[in-house]
Amino acid sequence: MILVTGATGNIGGELVTVLSESGTQVRALVRDPATATLPAGVAAVTGDLNRPETMTDALDGVGALFLLPGYDNQADLLDRAKKAGVQRIVQLSSASAALQDMDNAVSRYMTLSERAVRESELAWTFLRPRSFMSNALRWLPQLAVGDVVRVQFPDVRVGAIDPADIAAVAALALTGDDLDGRILELTGPQALRPADQIAVLATLLNRQLVAHGLTTAETKAELEATMPQHYVDAFLSFFADGTLDEETLYPTVQDVTGRAPRTFEQWAHAHAADFAH
Ligand SMILES: NC(=O)c1ccc[n+]([C@@H]2O[C@H](COP(=O)([O-])OP(=O)(O)OC[C@H]3O[C@@H](n4cnc5c(N)ncnc54)[C@H](OP(=O)(O)O)[C@@H]3O)[C@@H](O)[C@H]2O)c1
Repeated sequence: MILVTGATGNIGGELVTVLSESGTQVRALVRDPATATLPAGVAAVTGDLNRPETMTDALDGVGALFLLPGYDNQADLLDRAKKAGVQRIVQLSSASAALQDMDNAVSRYMTLSERAVRESELAWTFLRPRSFMSNALRWLPQLAVGDVVRVQFPDVRVGAIDPADIAAVAALALTGDDLDGRILELTGPQALRPADQIAVLATLLNRQLVAHGLTTAETKAELEATMPQHYVDAFLSFFADGTLDEETLYPTVQDVTGRAPRTFEQWAHAHAADFAH
């Protein structure tokens, strides 16, 4: 049995689908079964990662665990997982774990999550994806009201990755031992600026979209409206100060899955319905 955390989210949603379609026994962790939307046939179990004591039913009979990063008491959760018989952890992480920058709130929680898994002495695989292609969905409110899209960090190229590719790699790591002990740097096939992604969406939607690059001060103000200051500082450090390289591309998805990672164009076409409003 595989337990997938974040099963209602971008990665976990793709992962429960790929696992259930391949006939693997999978259980989806949700906090509220009344509101959770899951693929047909995927069983839900309730638990809260911030409260490991709520995870007893979820962990029962589980052999491998797909784990989101950054929750409280992760060492306690891993201890409970081990006692319940879990043998393998596939830890979602990010490129920023490599920085091990404990003054950066995002790098810090990624680093601490990986460290807790190492210290658990369970078998592990760390997935370090670059920004998700699904982050483009944050432009939906702007697309609903006009053709000018205000974009943050306009000059930064990112090897953004399709969540489905992260899920494909995660599924292999969860169901065999070939990827045990591996740190997998996961990128898409191209390093694109926000304006390049907007151009793809313009073609898809047959609209004259224009990307309007925000200054760093404007980006800071936008971020401050949506997240705590320590995360604002983290993203400014990554993408305004340039402490994080998300531009370099890696062949990992091809090497691990045997097929090329999906382009942003492919991702956008697969999610065209989300943009058709
Ligand atoms: N976006 C990026 O570019 C990027 C890049 C690298 C790494 N990451 C990392 O990816 C993670 C987000 O993954 P995602 O985009 O797949 O998720 P997501 O779409 O943001 O959804 C969040 C998921 O986390 C679950 N969740 C939230 N709090 C929880 C809790 N206390 N206990 C149990 N489950 C909880 C939610 O479940 P409910 O249904 O219960 O709400 C939901 O399934 C973040 O840790 C982020 O740092 C993101």
